[in-house]
Amino acid sequence: MTAAALPPSGAVTVRAPAKINLHLGVGAARADGYHPLSTVYQAVGLYDDVTVTEAEEWSVELVRADDDVPLDGENIAIRAGRLLVEHHGLDLAASISIDKGIPVAGGMAGGSADAAATLVALDRLWDLRTPDDDMLALAGRLGSDVPFALLGGTALGTGRGELVEPVVDRTECWWVVVLSDTGLSTPAVYGHFDTVVPDAAAEPPLPAALLAALELGDVPGLGAALDNDLWAPARALRPDLVAIEADLRSMDPAGLLLSGSGPTLLMLYDNVDAARRALADVTDLGLRASIAPGPVAGVHLVTYGPA
Ligand code: C5P
Repeated sequence: MTAAALPPSGAVTVRAPAKINLHLGVGAARADGYHPLSTVYQAVGLYDDVTVTEAEEWSVELVRADDDVPLDGENIAIRAGRLLVEHHGLDLAASISIDKGIPVAGGMAGGSADAAATLVALDRLWDLRTPDDDMLALAGRLGSDVPFALLGGTALGTGRGELVEPVVDRTECWWVVVLSDTGLSTPAVYGHFDTVVPDAAAEPPLPAALLAALELGDVPGLGAALDNDLWAPARALRPDLVAIEADLRSMDPAGLLLSGSGPTLLMLYDNVDAARRALADVTDLGLRASIAPGPVAGVHLVTYGPA
């Protein structure tokens, strides 16, 4: 996770993957407002690249502008930087530049990926050598799915999603990632879950069939076991998704899934050629889409060197 024994340098770039939830079991809201989860994360091959350089003050910029991302102190990458510095009792700041390849507000944890990448990039920039357990704890304070972005691969997530544990995944998945022109707010979808599912369990059960399919490398079995409890509230907030789902199902994927809190939809294939054919069909419908393999590695160093 953290690169050790390299000399401090002027600029560091770290790459972080998007995540999807192969299973997203949601329980009744806790006293703190969060929902207990039983989820299986998979990191997939869409990436944000985060570059940090030391500076007088904290700042963040996007390489490709996107109006939906806040660029003030509320930006999760700046919060990550401040938290790491505070953890080490230091008084340092950095400029953070983000090249986004992960859809914004799409249910693929792009902001969480940026936070995880910033932690790792600054740790390297200043040669802080933060222990992995401390990095995971800091990540958990930043957001429920930030720890998973550090880990990557495939992992079981419990608690509010921040407690992560790798699981065996022998599948080779090819996802057709179908984007939406407008995003969905994660708190809004969780909030609506309480209305749509008023009798949710206190502790959502573990997805035994899905975990078995992963261990066997059984993509059709995985496709049949994909499940997301946020799908019903997301559909209620975005009824336009229903017709799109019907179109996508007619393309015969091994499975169809809402990504996280949506509105991104995911079609599963067991080989890249079938995924490419589906991508062409989806594009013909006038939808924006791309292909991503999974599972892939978590945050990793891309370059370090003079600014
Ligand atoms: O933890 P994070 O900041 O990513 O969560 C964003 C929002 O999503 C929370 O404020 C909450 O509304 C909702 N959430 C939830 N239960 C979870 C994770 C997120 O209700 N387990």
